[in-house]
Amino acid sequence: MALSTRHLLGIKDLIPEDIQLILDTAKQFKEVLQRPIKKVPSLRDVTIVNLFYENSTRTRISFELAEKRLSADTINFSASGSSVSKGETLLDTVNNILSMKVDMVVMRHSASGAPHFLAKHIPAAIINAGDGVNEHPTQALLDAFSILEKTGSLKGARIALIGDIMHSRVAQSNIYLLTKMGAEVTVCGPPTLIPKYIDQAFNVHVEYDLKKALEWCDVANVLRIQLERQNTVLFSSLREYNLVYGISKKLLQSLKKEITIMHPGPINRGVELDSDVADGKQSIILQQVENGVAVRMAVLYLLAGERNSY
Ligand code: CP
Repeated sequence: MALSTRHLLGIKDLIPEDIQLILDTAKQFKEVLQRPIKKVPSLRDVTIVNLFYENSTRTRISFELAEKRLSADTINFSASGSSVSKGETLLDTVNNILSMKVDMVVMRHSASGAPHFLAKHIPAAIINAGDGVNEHPTQALLDAFSILEKTGSLKGARIALIGDIMHSRVAQSNIYLLTKMGAEVTVCGPPTLIPKYIDQAFNVHVEYDLKKALEWCDVANVLRIQLERQNTVLFSSLREYNLVYGISKKLLQSLKKEITIMHPGPINRGVELDSDVADGKQSIILQQVENGVAVRMAVLYLLAGERNSY
């Protein structure tokens, strides 16, 4: 089995069979990661550059670990401390790196569409590790893998995406993935943080009342308030946001059922989630991070099978 694409630029471009193949392959790699020897030779002689133009903790470490577990050769590039500060363009930087015989590029960039631009101009396979407010496909895949572990099926699962939907690439990738796989999705947050007409454009429900959204869902994926992407005042204060849209233990205990809490990280503790919820028994936040390695191994492995030699 092979993916229908040679890059992973976004979930938008994947067919449901691609998503299923990645999730099934990730399950096998998760088993590998339980073994005493966690390394397999699958990507020996494959060279991967991790090109990060924007900060990251989880995604960067997770990709690097996934590459090492697959025995790939890896190079890490950060825009800070590089010749980008001397005015070198993205394309020049990447072409210089590729001339050293690199097969795959993992890329995070603050500009939406940056990996799509690269894919048009270079022969290496590109994996989008988050581009601006557009997509974060491997986050959505690891979220789906974690939901599957919890619920057993994506089809018919009720997932609420809570918070800053407007500026969240995680929300967009989750919506594409979950709706393609037959889950029901509700987005919930302040009206100023939910794009107009999202229900018609994406086949999701919109709910402005947090308690109603939590009563409805099986899983709540709670998103970070992305203050760095907001160039106007969209709510009065973080304190007020927490009062209306923050999830507390008391709120969870007031629901008629026990729901699962997810968050892609980094968490603004005391804003979108209280600490006793983030660290509580209903939270699978650290399992999401653990699953990220297996999911990224699956993506790298499947795309390496598709790579052109050059
Ligand atoms: N979830 C996520 O993308 O986290 P990082 O920004 O730390 O990679």
